[in-house]
Amino acid sequence: MSSLSGALTEVVARVFADLGLDPEFGRVTPSNRPDLGQFQCNGALAAAKAAKQNPRAIAEQVAAKLQALPQFRDISLAGPGFINLSLTDAALSGHANKLASDERLGVPGKEPLVVVLDYGGANIAKAMHVGHLRAAIIGEALRRLFLFVGDDTIGDVHMGDWGLQMGMIISELEIRRPDLPYFKASFEGPYPNASPVTVEELEEIYPTAAAACKADLARMEKARLATAELQQGRPGYRALWQHFFDVSMETMKRDYGALGVHFDLWKGEAHVDPLIGPMVEKLKQMGIAHQDKGAWIIPVAKPDDKAEIPPLILVKSDGAAMYSTTDLATIVDRVQEQNPDEILYVVDQRQHLHFEQVFRAAILAGLNGKAKMEHLGFGTMNGKDGKPFKTREGGVMKLQDLIAMMTNAAMERLNEQGIGTDYDEAERREIARKVGLAALKFADLSNHRIANYVFDLDRFVRFEGKTGPYLLYAAVRIKSILRKAEAQEDRPGSILPPEPGERDLILALGGLPDAVMDAYRERAPNKIADYAYGLAQTFSTYYNQFHILSEPDKALLRSRLALCALTLRALELSLSLLGIEVPERM
Ligand code: ARG
Repeated sequence: MSSLSGALTEVVARVFADLGLDPEFGRVTPSNRPDLGQFQCNGALAAAKAAKQNPRAIAEQVAAKLQALPQFRDISLAGPGFINLSLTDAALSGHANKLASDERLGVPGKEPLVVVLDYGGANIAKAMHVGHLRAAIIGEALRRLFLFVGDDTIGDVHMGDWGLQMGMIISELEIRRPDLPYFKASFEGPYPNASPVTVEELEEIYPTAAAACKADLARMEKARLATAELQQGRPGYRALWQHFFDVSMETMKRDYGALGVHFDLWKGEAHVDPLIGPMVEKLKQMGIAHQDKGAWIIPVAKPDDKAEIPPLILVKSDGAAMYSTTDLATIVDRVQEQNPDEILYVVDQRQHLHFEQVFRAAILAGLNGKAKMEHLGFGTMNGKDGKPFKTREGGVMKLQDLIAMMTNAAMERLNEQGIGTDYDEAERREIARKVGLAALKFADLSNHRIANYVFDLDRFVRFEGKTGPYLLYAAVRIKSILRKAEAQEDRPGSILPPEPGERDLILALGGLPDAVMDAYRERAPNKIADYAYGLAQTFSTYYNQFHILSEPDKALLRSRLALCALTLRALELSLSLLGIEVPERM
């Protein structure tokens, strides 16, 4: 199947072809002048230009051929050659009935691509903070979207576990507890099984160490050395690294789990360490890596660059691998393991230059196999002061605290609105959790990912306006209608030709495949957020205008219930693609 405008495009394109014109010009879209028609085709203008004919004359010929078809109620021309089209009510209900029996709600299938998505990036030993929130929310939505459209997706968390922060922590621990066996060169093992530090201690050690390194060059030098030694395989440091990794992993899984974000692979930068040596060797041999003051770099600038693109630093003079090095080796790993068609990086837009360098180097050396690499950047979530969001005390907000804050705010709203007051405490808490997460995710995903947005808790949790809670409420209301109908033994039936006030709902339902495919092509989940909001509004208008449960004509009642059920499926699909869960009742 396809969308309504997709189905019409096929019909109109055939007419263009019959007239000896390029069928590409037969594209039909929902009308931006609903007063003139439900759909429009503007292709006569471009076709006329190409064929050196009068656009109005072409539009007239197309319209004449379309008039002969049974599905149109109205065809009119406007301006120099715009064609307005409206479907008969029978054609509309025919499409709605097909949708009702289509598992995919009209979204066509496709040949699967293998797509690796990289949307984690949380760092070992550092608490996950709101900076990682957007990557997770947007990446999870994209993973679900790609999977639904038909690709084979692999979500990789790609933790930050191999950089300078590891050396900072190791050297800080060495200063605090020099007696630990990990620091004795003569120690012959085995090292203790239990970690010498908890994750809470790590979360204190890292910022202290980072601040000390920033303030003191000698202290920084110690951290650099420890990083290089770790990477070169010093056993005590590797053993410590493993402890840090294990204790961090536990909280990381808990945090991503609480957000409802799934990963297929829990690999990190360190995972590709064994690939770095051979890769660097190959890059040297190919003459792609150049020596520069003791370091190895890859020049990636091109003559037509508008801004200067500095060389990628492959190996520092102390032998340490860099962020770019692990990213390049990760491409090698992914090509070996998954041989993907695409690798998508959902990472802060401020890392754009980094990815430009990495992609250019990978292509120069042919490391990427057949994979197309794309950086899907995103903006920052800001506080009301316009700066990246912080706690009231000015610190970084931990993800866990943010989720608790959302749940509490949702609970307050539920109380205020008197929602679910008669449910037991556990169910109310579960509803509040879903409403809070929906508020957070929808607020994020309803913006284009590149845009910055302001964290506005009060607005996010409102049940009115373009919010997550509004959409949950819309879906839950339909569930309640269907439950009540079921209780009076009324079930959805065949959809009848709509009355004028019902047409818009069918038109909106018929547009879902366009929203999904636009979101897919543009890697823009906000297209789905916009669609879901529009559909909920259209349904609300419909609901205010028509009796449903009290409709005495049974055939009509069943038809309306079927429209309700279809709307619910479209809303639930849209929300699930955004990673948003809908409660059973509210
Ligand atoms: N760990 C990095 C950070 O916190 C993000 C990693 C993003 N993914 C990647 N392949 N570089 O900034």
